[in-house]
Amino acid sequence: MKKNLNRARSQSWDAVAHWYAGWTGTNGSRYHRTLAVPLLLELLAPKRGEHIADLGCGPGILAPPIAERGAGFVGVDLSPRLIADARRHHGRVGRFLVGDVTRLPRHADLPEAGFDAACFLLSIQDINPLGEAMTSAARLLKPGGRLAIVMLHPCFRVPRQSGWGWDEGRGLKFRRLDSYLTPLAVPMQSHEAGTTRSYHRPLGAYAEALAAAGLALTGIREVSDLPAQGESKADRRAAGEFPLFLGLRAVKLE
Ligand SMILES: C[S@@+](CC[C@H](N)C(=O)[O-])C[C@H]1O[C@@H](n2cnc3c(N)ncnc32)[C@H](O)[C@@H]1O
Repeated sequence: MKKNLNRARSQSWDAVAHWYAGWTGTNGSRYHRTLAVPLLLELLAPKRGEHIADLGCGPGILAPPIAERGAGFVGVDLSPRLIADARRHHGRVGRFLVGDVTRLPRHADLPEAGFDAACFLLSIQDINPLGEAMTSAARLLKPGGRLAIVMLHPCFRVPRQSGWGWDEGRGLKFRRLDSYLTPLAVPMQSHEAGTTRSYHRPLGAYAEALAAAGLALTGIREVSDLPAQGESKADRRAAGEFPLFLGLRAVKLE
């Protein structure tokens, strides 16, 4: 685990591409379909004729719902394998490019100030440095353009530093948090040949990075996990109290 994240650069998910694309399937995982994608679409509010960039698009599961709303879609990801997968399944409804969103390549499909909206769908916590990713997003947006971000809630879901506990005396399921303010680069469970890294930053770091990139925060949504079958009352209460996802909406200042 690293304490100073400033110089760590995020990695492509190529080594785990087969596993990840299998987990999401063509239309997204259960979490994508039930929570993350509906939240992102609510924040992004794509409209007919708009141009939308998906940063860290992975296998491109966001392209079909954006295309259904009549908007153009460009997805960018560092993983050539995931981009190949995205093109195979969604190439008819979107364009997909291999690229690092912390230092975007010059490309005719990524015109500066060429997009009405941009998003990070469950990708911002896998991307570092954060400030460079936000600057790239701002650079792609037209003045007044929207940015939507959906991520695991950084106040309650800190990889390896948070979890559930049971208070026997009170008969209460509680959320335990062992650290929060310290930014962390956390190696995640290996799948296939690879390990990925997730970057924890406190909520204030996101607000600061948005402001530094000239993006004004205009909305926050906190979403609970869906109830699972056979859950106890204590499980349901705890799941309802501590949100799983955080959604942020920002606008590029004119
Ligand atoms: C958890 S996956 C999310 C993918 C997709 N948005 C989804 O919801 O299925 C995170 C993605 O971020 C990508 N990524 C990490 N660092 C990146 C960077 N610097 N530039 C572009 N993509 C990056 C990885 O390759 C991976 O596909």
